[in-house]
Amino acid sequence: MAPFLASFCIMVLSFSVTFASGNIVANKSEETCIDASIVLSFGLYQNSCPEAEAIIFSWVESAVSPDPRMAASLLRLHFHDCFVNGCDASVLLDDTPNFTGEKTAAPNLNSLRGFEVIDSIKADLEYTCPQTVSCADILAIAARDSVVLSGGLGWQVQMGRKDSLTASKTAANNNIPGPNSNVATLVSNFQNLGLSLQDMVTLSGAHTIGKARCATFNSRLNGGNNPDMNLDFLQSLQQLCSVNTTLANLDDMSPSTFDNQYYVNLLSGKGLLVSDQVLATGDDNTREIVQNYVDDPSAFLEDFKNSMLKMGSLAPPTGTKGEIRVNCRVVNQFNY
Ligand code: HEM
Repeated sequence: MAPFLASFCIMVLSFSVTFASGNIVANKSEETCIDASIVLSFGLYQNSCPEAEAIIFSWVESAVSPDPRMAASLLRLHFHDCFVNGCDASVLLDDTPNFTGEKTAAPNLNSLRGFEVIDSIKADLEYTCPQTVSCADILAIAARDSVVLSGGLGWQVQMGRKDSLTASKTAANNNIPGPNSNVATLVSNFQNLGLSLQDMVTLSGAHTIGKARCATFNSRLNGGNNPDMNLDFLQSLQQLCSVNTTLANLDDMSPSTFDNQYYVNLLSGKGLLVSDQVLATGDDNTREIVQNYVDDPSAFLEDFKNSMLKMGSLAPPTGTKGEIRVNCRVVNQFNY
């Protein structure tokens, strides 16, 4: 093993985790860093942690059942993870006095939710099979489960992601597209990561669940250049958003159901964000896909699975070192 790995990534420490009914102390032995850009595979934990997927599903179910929006929040966490130097759980790292993570980047601050759900899953997994399931894999599986629990189709999740040793607020600000983006910007944000125009339109369909803050789309409501917006929809949002801290459903017709209604809304000028509405009105190629998903709801559900697999396999740059974090909020070196 290279000296860098030996000196920075091997450690011995003990830690305590709290989950469900009490406080559990587990001992963590040696830990080594591994190349984070390794190839993913199906069924990786079949032998090392056969209960992993059931444990994750059960925590996601417990979180979504009283709060259906949590499904949307967990799905979005995976997206915001993968778009910043690959799916490596960098989004989960907390800021410290000496370290700035991604949580305060503009697309994330006061907006991302679900960190506590991931903490509970991780604590349970560390008890059941210590140092085996990465936080990045937890995010990918929880995203899939969230879609399933909202009524969408499931898929087999590829596993083997490693957790990053660092994070990038700058990349979070640059790579995650903003709500006022036009089609060209959206396409280039996705293409920079190897995702196609079709992946972009399909993955935007995640906005069939969840909410946005009025502050996010307020510029559309104040007499801005908004010719695409349905007038009744505009007026109802103006009323709703008289208090800026309010939340609006991204798909007001079926806000907690994973279906093709998002695309139906776009064709009638009821896309909440500019970046939603432009898919129907800003470009012929994207509009054709929107129309196809309106005509054929199962095509959307099927394509969504495939695009999620593509997004979920975005890898950290080759040569990047990773680990299986013990606590998703902190790299192992500082977990004391
Ligand atoms: C295409 C470019 C995209 C843009 C510009 C965008 C932008 C946004 C914005 C601005 C919000 C609301 C944030 C807030 O007001 O706090 C949001 C919410 C959301 N986004 Fe996206 N997004 C995009 C793509 C995606 C993708 C690819 C996914 C997942 C595959 C996704 C999943 C979600 C979900 C589920 C929510 C609701 C979260 C919740 O309720 O907690 N988005 N998005």
